Amino acid sequence: MMISWERSINIKSQQEIEIMREAGRINAEALSAAVSLIAPGVTTAELNAAFEAVHQRYGVYSPFKNYPGPYPYPASICTSVNDELVHGIPGDRQLVEGDLVSIDCGTVYQGFVGDMAVTVGVGQINPQSERLIKVTEQALKIAIEKMVPDNTTGDIGHAVQSYVEGQGFHVTRMYTGHGVGRAMHEGPQVPNYGKPGRGIRLREGMTIALEPMVLVGTPDTVVKADQWTVASADGSLTAHFEHTVAITANGPLILTQMGEN
Ligand code: MF3
Ligand code: CO
Repeated sequence: MMISWERSINIKSQQEIEIMREAGRINAEALSAAVSLIAPGVTTAELNAAFEAVHQRYGVYSPFKNYPGPYPYPASICTSVNDELVHGIPGDRQLVEGDLVSIDCGTVYQGFVGDMAVTVGVGQINPQSERLIKVTEQALKIAIEKMVPDNTTGDIGHAVQSYVEGQGFHVTRMYTGHGVGRAMHEGPQVPNYGKPGRGIRLREGMTIALEPMVLVGTPDTVVKADQWTVASADGSLTAHFEHTVAITANGPLILTQMGEN
């Protein structure tokens, strides 16, 4: 989410977390239908259609569709290719061997939201692209490990930033993770940078979309002419991974996964 404004932090009951787990499970299943289509020649609109086909089967919908912005967001997923970091709009762009495509997607099930993103290579990708994907995915894992009571949002941001910068890449300052629940964007905001001990204190029952957004060249971004697509200012490659995660007494619980739910 774009910075920044105040939104309330809503603590979820165990029952609500179970509903969010189902929202997240359906979201992951619909995402995997889109991901399995990824190949040279496929358009980003076809990825959106594959995602929507799964939604129709479940009778659910995407919180992205018509999300307020410069104009209502026109699709169910975001597809961001190469230099595009987030909020790319699906369309007739054909994927090319070597591209990096990130798919960011959401599902509303029984009034609760699951929010998730992955970045995937198209066919064979070069070693730097491979490393960018691995580092961004690892940054998400590091963020998830910090999702325990009494840590702070600054602890998460600091862990992500120091890891990513230690790998020679950069984190965005303009877009952040966020609480998620009945609304896609709740408090707290969770930047991918920060200082240990600063920010909001984490509590059991918080559900947060953690989303490292990583750029190869600099932290700076620009918004493209379509007014939604956010790209690296220098045209360098970017990647984005996201999970919706609950803070529980038994440790971090990833809500957006297909397995063992
Ligand atoms: N899931 C993303 C986020 O966390 C992107 C939603 S943008 C939208 O902010 F407009 F498509 F909804
Ligand atoms: Co999000």
